[in-house]
Amino acid sequence: MADSDVDATIPEPLMEGEGLLSTLDIILVSIIAAVLIYWIMFRKKVEEIPEFKKLTTPAPTTQEKSLIEKMKKTGRNIVVFYGSQTGTAEEFSNRLAKDAQRYGIKGMVADPEEYDMSELSRLTEIDNSIAIFCMATYGEGDPTDNAQEFNEWLQEGATDLEGVNFTVFALGNKTYEHFNAMGKYVDKRLEELGATRIFDLGMGDDDANLEEDFVSWKEQFWPAVCEHFGVEATGEESSIRQYELEVHTDINMDKIFTGEISRLKSFETQRSPFDTKNPFLAPVTVNRKLNKGGSRHLMHLELDITGSKIRYEAGDHVAVYPTNDAAIVNQIGHILDVDLETIISLNNLDEESNKKHPFPCPTTYRTALMHYLDITSPPRTNVMYELAQYASDPPEQEHMRKMASSSPEGKGLYQSWVLESHRNILAVLQDLPSLRPPIDHLCELMPRLHPRYYSIASSSKVHPNSIHICAVVVEYQTNTKRINKGVATNWLKNKLVTDNGHKSTVPMYIRKSQFRLPFKSGSPVIMIGPGTGIAPFMGFLQEQAWFREQGREVGETVLYYGCRHKNEDFLYQEELEQFQKAGVLTQANVAFSRDQEQKVYVQNLLKKNKEHLWKLIDTENAHIYICGDARNMARDVQNTFYDMAEELGGMMHSQAVQYIKKLMAKGRYSQDVWS
Ligand SMILES: Cc1cc2nc3c(=O)[nH]c(=O)nc-3n(C[C@H](O)[C@H](O)[C@H](O)COP(=O)(O)OP(=O)(O)OC[C@H]3O[C@@H](n4cnc5c(N)ncnc54)[C@H](O)[C@@H]3O)c2cc1C
Ligand SMILES: NC(=O)c1ccc[n+]([C@@H]2O[C@H](COP(=O)([O-])OP(=O)(O)OC[C@H]3O[C@@H](n4cnc5c(N)ncnc54)[C@H](OP(=O)(O)O)[C@@H]3O)[C@@H](O)[C@H]2O)c1
Ligand SMILES: Cc1cc2nc3c(=O)[nH]c(=O)nc-3n(C[C@H](O)[C@H](O)[C@H](O)COP(=O)(O)O)c2cc1C
Ligand SMILES: *[C@@H]1O[C@H](CO)[C@@H](O)[C@H](O)[C@H]1NC(C)=O
Ligand SMILES: *[C@@H]1O[C@H](CO)[C@@H](O)[C@H](O)[C@H]1NC(C)=O
Repeated sequence: MADSDVDATIPEPLMEGEGLLSTLDIILVSIIAAVLIYWIMFRKKVEEIPEFKKLTTPAPTTQEKSLIEKMKKTGRNIVVFYGSQTGTAEEFSNRLAKDAQRYGIKGMVADPEEYDMSELSRLTEIDNSIAIFCMATYGEGDPTDNAQEFNEWLQEGATDLEGVNFTVFALGNKTYEHFNAMGKYVDKRLEELGATRIFDLGMGDDDANLEEDFVSWKEQFWPAVCEHFGVEATGEESSIRQYELEVHTDINMDKIFTGEISRLKSFETQRSPFDTKNPFLAPVTVNRKLNKGGSRHLMHLELDITGSKIRYEAGDHVAVYPTNDAAIVNQIGHILDVDLETIISLNNLDEESNKKHPFPCPTTYRTALMHYLDITSPPRTNVMYELAQYASDPPEQEHMRKMASSSPEGKGLYQSWVLESHRNILAVLQDLPSLRPPIDHLCELMPRLHPRYYSIASSSKVHPNSIHICAVVVEYQTNTKRINKGVATNWLKNKLVTDNGHKSTVPMYIRKSQFRLPFKSGSPVIMIGPGTGIAPFMGFLQEQAWFREQGREVGETVLYYGCRHKNEDFLYQEELEQFQKAGVLTQANVAFSRDQEQKVYVQNLLKKNKEHLWKLIDTENAHIYICGDARNMARDVQNTFYDMAEELGGMMHSQAVQYIKKLMAKGRYSQDVWS
């Protein structure tokens, strides 16, 4: 996320006129005036045409656009590019650039979106240069938003990259079909274009331990680089601060960030297009509990996007920027004995860096901890390592160093003490009483708080000005007897509904997906979504109903839904019955898992109806959609379809796998899953 320097967006003051106007000046002034009048008159029109939107937003910064010039000017050899959505790849890139210092090599981090990537071939102009790519994968093996242009360039426009030295670290999650697809593609494509791979592709798996994958990859990568450059490693990982604390004592309160994502006061001057760097503040118009019983809280929210020009399709995701729990922030302030209202900036010690601050500055510690920093995810091992120096009690310090080490014992300790115990930074501070780091260093080390995605539970055909969300509030007890609460869902749960005089808003933007109803509205649709996995199907059903109203043919539409108890958490029961009555939903199969001795899941019902389903799939071109839990449900359902193909299609297992793969390639087997 580019927190580009705030000042950079403020235009230069106009030069004052000197003396009388000459004839030439008058002509010039007239032309400018004419252009201005034209612009004022026609500006509105231009803004209404979506294609022009991008052009009318101001360029973010005045910084150096040429990568090579910048590297030359600032004496860098290593450039680390990141393709990142939620900040992990960006954080890893920062750490790699920081590591380089230990070897006397100067590195820089670069957002591919901010540079002209066609300059990559010119890296050969810089002696001993290396391009490192930290690339995350999303969706169906897609690049992150900020790597989209780079990806297109690689596919189409890329030039000869002979002489360019590179390496790739891929970030992904094994539970997804296209594991690390983007990292693998960049690695393969750069080689095809003639570049030299100086170190093997690293494969990071978020489902196991991404941090560990990264650390062991870079522990082997750096010696290889040293050999490449002929330099000596300085050994010990030293703790180098990247940012310097500046405390503001005399500052205009208008210049302080109070939770805006990027541009100062952007929340008051809402301007489209809205995206990750410029979210829209959508008023909450409905916030209702969906379940009738049980100890959980499942909710239905509606966000008003009137006037925002935001467009969405059923199947897209809405991203929401949450705010942390004030109680946790207060406790951190209390335990570290600091005044949270102190106004500060953390300024990058590397003045050439594009990233001046780790989060929008100047701000207060309270704002940073409430809005910008992730204070509830388990701290990574590098954070434990860096913080260890502030544990005054030697056994506690040793405990922290051990958890950060790569020994099997250290890894095991980190796994159990941090991950399995779900300790957040506050729990770490509480359980290590001698650990009292300066709050500014803590703020430097915490990752950025990232947006949460929700599958949109409405159709824009029916609700063009409203986005519906169906979510379950996360709350669980850890083995240290703490109650951990999910950041976004608990924040959303307590969102009051906007009414006259009271405004309650959610910073959001839309992320497009590939999860779409069949192009031909007559094709049969099979929807499988237990629990909150029902969300996108509410949008699909609304859309199907709308198609019918328009007189369009709508194919057979069957739903497989599951919940715990019929009279507790049967979400949208009334709405589903309405759709059935109207003939939109041909068939609703519901698995109540806990209403009888033996568990019944959606896949049991799929098996029961296998003949009918197979006919829809194999002879009637049905489209299959699966939404919800990625960890178990999606995999179990996929196995059920393999069984079906084997049994009813007379296939061997490998053929069945191929069969489903082909459906996926044709867009007839789509998943919208998370865990
Ligand atoms: C593409 C996509 C679509 C999504 N759509 C929806 C949707 O439609 N509806 C919906 O409700 N969610 C959806 N999610 C999930 C959603 O984005 C959030 O992850 C979820 O709401 C939790 O966010 P949170 O901030 O409340 O929790 P966080 O503060 O992020 O905490 C979540 C973490 O808590 C831990 N945790 C949670 N439960 C337990 C437990 N029982 N035991 C131990 N640890 C636990 C896990 O480590 C988990 O990662 C979607 C996710 C993606 C990626
Ligand atoms: N982090 C975790 O440990 C964890 C655990 C569960 C869910 N989740 C997440 O929460 C999301 C949605 O949860 P939710 O509250 O909406 O769902 P939910 O209400 O917990 O579950 C919906 C239904 O799915 C059933 N189910 C459980 N395992 C299944 C499987 N392997 N195949 C098919 N059905 C199965 C459940 O049965 P039973 O519950 O009776 O078995 C229940 O009837 C999931 O996508 C998942 O990512 C996380
Ligand atoms: C919605 C979503 C989709 C994902 N899709 C994939 C995928 O297709 N393949 C994969 O290997 N990893 C996938 N991942 C995992 C991410 O790539 C991984 O968590 C990565 O560390 C994120 O990096 P970032 O924080 O820099 O964005 C997905 C994660 C999410 C949340
Ligand atoms: C790339 O690496 C090779 C050796 O592996 C080296 O000879 C060459 O100079 C390097 N290229 C650049 C541009 O640094
Ligand atoms: C990916 O990794 C995260 C982090 O460890 C894990 O919680 C999640 O279950 C994995 N799967 C998905 C689909 O995010």
